[in-house]
Amino acid sequence: MTSYDMRQTKIASKYESIPRMNTDDCLNTLTRIGEKWTGQGVAMELGCWLGASSVALLKGLNKAGYDKPFYAFDRWKANAQQVREGWEFVTSIGQNLLPQYRKNIHPYINKLAHHKGKLPEILETADLSDVRIEMLVLDAPKTEPVYTACIRALHKHWIPGVTILCLLDYNFYQRKEGVERERLLAPVNFMIRNEGCFSSIHQKEGESAAFFRYEKPLKNI
Ligand SMILES: C[S@@+](CC[C@H](N)C(=O)[O-])C[C@H]1O[C@@H](n2cnc3c(N)ncnc32)[C@H](O)[C@@H]1O
Repeated sequence: MTSYDMRQTKIASKYESIPRMNTDDCLNTLTRIGEKWTGQGVAMELGCWLGASSVALLKGLNKAGYDKPFYAFDRWKANAQQVREGWEFVTSIGQNLLPQYRKNIHPYINKLAHHKGKLPEILETADLSDVRIEMLVLDAPKTEPVYTACIRALHKHWIPGVTILCLLDYNFYQRKEGVERERLLAPVNFMIRNEGCFSSIHQKEGESAAFFRYEKPLKNI
């Protein structure tokens, strides 16, 4: 089942008892990437929801001896669709989902740097001055102008030849048509504008997620 199919129905399965929106291939890849942490930078996720993808990455990071804070960003606010569809843990529109996120990831990390609010604005309130990012999971920014604004705010913290970008909605556009498809092409258009700056490390037919290594400074943001 693709992440698209999962989003069209109620949550179909769980990951470590956490409701999830991503496939086995995506979560297993996050764990494998975490296992390869080199110690040069932090791990960060934009769009953590209830923590299934954070936990997948943290499981790998822990094996690699990760000792830095895990940077987590989300508005952690339940929306009308989640309430309507009866998503687990979600009881009312606007419900604060941060306590459930913290509870779900607690067994896997003790240093959590969480920032609750709207992207990209919330990136400005996080003190990232000395931070180098080794692993960046994007599961909230997927359309413009938010996608490019997040890249603009974060790319100066990336390490050439090291930083891994995990774009969990990279191929999501393939399931859509018309204007919606165009909007969801933001991450693909970004890669086209910056051809040669990334190498592909994992993509699988039918999967929404795609994983890239940042190799050299961006040409066109
Ligand atoms: C696809 S879900 C994330 C799923 C999660 N990574 C997982 O594995 O379960 C997207 C998340 O991004 C958050 N989000 C979307 N747009 C946002 C924005 N502009 N600012 C802050 N959070 C946002 C939503 O609140 C939601 O929790």
